[in-house]
Amino acid sequence: MAILLTGSTGYIGAHVTANLLAGCSDPLNLLVRARDVQEARERLWRSLQLHVDFEQFQSYLESRIHIFLGDITNPKFGLPAGDYDELVRTTDSVLHCAASLNRKSEKSCLNVNLRGTLEVIQLARCAQSDHRIRRFSHVSTVAVAGQRANEVVQEDSAIDWSRSDYDPYARTKKFCEHMLRELLPEVPRTIFRPSIVLGDSRRAETNQFDMVRAFVFLASLPVLPFRPADRIDIVPVDFVADSIAMLHQKSETSHDIYHLSSGTDSGNFAELTDSLAKAQGKRPPVFVPALEGPSSTMLNALAGTAGKVGGLATLLKVFLPYLVWNTVFDNSRVVAEMGRKPVPFSKYCYPLLRFSRENNFSYCYREWPSRAAAQDAR
Ligand SMILES: NC(=O)c1ccc[n+]([C@@H]2O[C@H](COP(=O)([O-])OP(=O)(O)OC[C@H]3O[C@@H](n4cnc5c(N)ncnc54)[C@H](OP(=O)(O)O)[C@@H]3O)[C@@H](O)[C@H]2O)c1
Repeated sequence: MAILLTGSTGYIGAHVTANLLAGCSDPLNLLVRARDVQEARERLWRSLQLHVDFEQFQSYLESRIHIFLGDITNPKFGLPAGDYDELVRTTDSVLHCAASLNRKSEKSCLNVNLRGTLEVIQLARCAQSDHRIRRFSHVSTVAVAGQRANEVVQEDSAIDWSRSDYDPYARTKKFCEHMLRELLPEVPRTIFRPSIVLGDSRRAETNQFDMVRAFVFLASLPVLPFRPADRIDIVPVDFVADSIAMLHQKSETSHDIYHLSSGTDSGNFAELTDSLAKAQGKRPPVFVPALEGPSSTMLNALAGTAGKVGGLATLLKVFLPYLVWNTVFDNSRVVAEMGRKPVPFSKYCYPLLRFSRENNFSYCYREWPSRAAAQDAR
């Protein structure tokens, strides 16, 4: 029996997939969007090559990975009836990582996060009535806590239906958690809520640059529109993936919700910028919190305009609420389960910044070997 994993071609999903492949012997049913199996394999190779070499990847393909070509926004993932039945029959637990993180698009969040998650829950219900499943793990987000200011949020009180949400992403992810509780009452459930997932504490390399781009831009400014003592809850992807993979495999977890975050150990802006300035031999920036309003007006004006500046402004605009809310998410549950804390961002942010700048915010992907050989021969 296998673990059904959605979102394995994404940033966190690929880390979780690599972790499960290395750390357990269960087969994986991977739901991948692609036109055919070869395209799905190539997409998986792209997302997993940060973790494994091609030989290892091929051996996993042959022994442990079963690809299902599906889209969670389609009824029964758009799978032929026989494939859907096989997925139901062979799935022993579900780890749902796929989502739309497009904070600007109500439509995309509605389709992928709500309709898509409902489709994954339906699959789990079919598997549950066929043979009972071991666990349904859902990767949510701390953004479900809605609009906050100056708080340490606890898992059980994070969802407050009377609060406003920052964006469609947060709103739809919040309702996903609700659907899960309502529609899978008899299945052991684990909800993981990562905070801002940025970089890997074990290495500088990354293939996800959205937030890194915003971070590198902010780190280059001589003046920042923030309060220096405000904390920002950033967590490395390796801690997030280790926690998800480990807790998903446990026969029983102590809790059903976990913040995957840095919690009260989160650094503040002054600590972060000091450590970066020191690493670069530069002067730290000056903080002028009064500029928050004008900065936000400027970002609103520039967001959506053409070119690099417009793109960066759009990115900063969607993340700004999460940078100025001075809110962190208690992580004592996951720290107790893992027996360790996440590495603080200030300890690994400089290598991440240098790698991203030196590589112009792109990752040098290795081609699928037969294709690479054909190109070499030309
Ligand atoms: N990154 C963060 O900082 C962060 C923080 C908190 C929570 N999270 C949560 O972590 C999870 C993973 O996020 P991520 O950063 O890894 O996102 P990501 O890199 O954008 O990956 C999203 C994954 O979802 C898949 N997906 C999207 N639409 C799909 C569809 N219609 N059918 C099937 N698969 C679909 C994507 O497949 P394709 O490759 O085909 O597009 C991709 O594999 C999400 O649930 C997110 O809410 C992320």
